[in-house]
Amino acid sequence: MTNLINMTVLSPLDKLMPRGYIRQMLSFPTTHSNISHVLKAGLAKLVADIPYLLSAVVINEENHHYILLAEPYQTVDDLYSEQDCSDTVNYTVMREEHFPPSMFSGPGMTPPETQPPFSNPTPVFRARVSFVQGGIVLCVAVHHCTTDITGFGVILKTWASHCQTNGSTTTIFDPMWMDHSILLKHYDMNMRKVPSGIPKLLHIRGPDDHARLANSRLYPDGFTTDILFFPQKTLQTLKHAVNEHITSQGVTGWVSTGDIITALLWSAILVAEHEWPASEETPRTQEEKSSTIGFPVNIRLRANAPLPSDYIGAAFVMAAAMSARDDLISFAMPGSPLGDDELIGSNSIGKLAKIASTIRISLRQVDEKSIQDALEYLNAAPDDHPPITLGPRHDSISIVSWADQAAYEIDWGEAIGKCDAVRLPKLRGKRYPIILPRSPAGINDGEEGLEVIVSLEKQALEKFEQSWPIRRFAIVRCSS
Ligand SMILES: CC(C)(COP(=O)(O)OP(=O)(O)OC[C@H]1O[C@@H](n2cnc3c(N)ncnc32)[C@H](O)[C@@H]1OP(=O)(O)O)[C@@H](O)C(=O)NCCC(=O)NCCS
Repeated sequence: MTNLINMTVLSPLDKLMPRGYIRQMLSFPTTHSNISHVLKAGLAKLVADIPYLLSAVVINEENHHYILLAEPYQTVDDLYSEQDCSDTVNYTVMREEHFPPSMFSGPGMTPPETQPPFSNPTPVFRARVSFVQGGIVLCVAVHHCTTDITGFGVILKTWASHCQTNGSTTTIFDPMWMDHSILLKHYDMNMRKVPSGIPKLLHIRGPDDHARLANSRLYPDGFTTDILFFPQKTLQTLKHAVNEHITSQGVTGWVSTGDIITALLWSAILVAEHEWPASEETPRTQEEKSSTIGFPVNIRLRANAPLPSDYIGAAFVMAAAMSARDDLISFAMPGSPLGDDELIGSNSIGKLAKIASTIRISLRQVDEKSIQDALEYLNAAPDDHPPITLGPRHDSISIVSWADQAAYEIDWGEAIGKCDAVRLPKLRGKRYPIILPRSPAGINDGEEGLEVIVSLEKQALEKFEQSWPIRRFAIVRCSS
């Protein structure tokens, strides 16, 4: 029988996270003889820093509000495993083919406990090394109810620093980073009146959310996973052009390269999935005229007194941005021909500025007060409250960014080195775009930029690849 401790360890935000794993497959071009020893010794130090990695998430079957961390009961040997795939997988081929997701789907490359159906209790942490010919693939999975992508990155960099045997450790783990109660203390829950209505950063789960969850569990064949690449230079040029356009309109405001790539992906997805009306005259409802996306926003640094940037609990909320479908589709459809040295025409810049600005405006709405309202509401919600979903309601399209994770910069020491690729295995269902950690210049001899992983039904993916923003600004690196 699992011994339950410290029921307050998980924050109300942790408890709202998907009941699955944040998982990444990291590829390293190493054949060092000491890999296993270094990784395991480093992991032993990591669990000394964060003991609850030896624990498990326990969900009460009758009432899913009850979700707890069990007392640590596992050993490093339970958390870490290895397999040899050197007969079947070759690192040079992987690299030549841009690390296709299908090459990460081989038997046993993902720790089996981290794939559905999950046991209950579900382990917090699993890692598995697959030795391929000429390198390794390290799969790390951390339960989403204990962390988010930023926290996952901190766990990786702490483990990596413990693998540096030459004493050059750069990350000294601060126990404050794993104190999940900090979220509530930080927003001083007792000081304000609990909001009476559901706050704007939350909504009550409705039939559309239930349908979405049910669909995400269907795994029909016929899905293809693409890895795309957007050069940083292209995104920067677009950002400058858009910001100049905004200034020229006499409007205050600006957009980031993140807003630009989100706008490009949003319009391409809409074209991929758009069902054309039977005739121009077919009346459209207000909902059919607009499109709303959801996207996660890290809240660590968005408060007046920021949370520790290395806090490892879940600390993001979902924002929602709405645009007219006609604007998104007309941006993503081929326009007038461009001059040879023109990246984008002035007409398209205006359209891109409108979409990217919408994203920035919704991001600004994630402020101290809206975050506090959401946390207070979650903290005070009674056990019999109808299920709550993070973020305002949206039309199921989500665009997630892991761009800031700095995965390529992490030095895992002499035996392991630095990683060449961050991937997920080929996805078995629909997965809207995830912007992968930023690739610095020099990775696999390439230029700086952002890779994106996306999985759609074959026909929709073809339309996505053919849409103007993808053809014009991205390169399809590989399809699986
Ligand atoms: C929401 C999010 C994606 C936005 O990314 P972003 O736009 O890159 O980040 P910011 O809002 O901090 O903006 C930074 C940019 O604004 C620019 N900027 C900031 N102030 C500015 C100003 N006054 N004028 C012009 N530009 C400005 C910066 O130069 C930078 O631009 P760049 O991206 O082109 O280099 C990101 O903040 C985030 O939260 N990421 C994590 C999401 C997450 O947790 N996902 C997974 C959950 S499991």
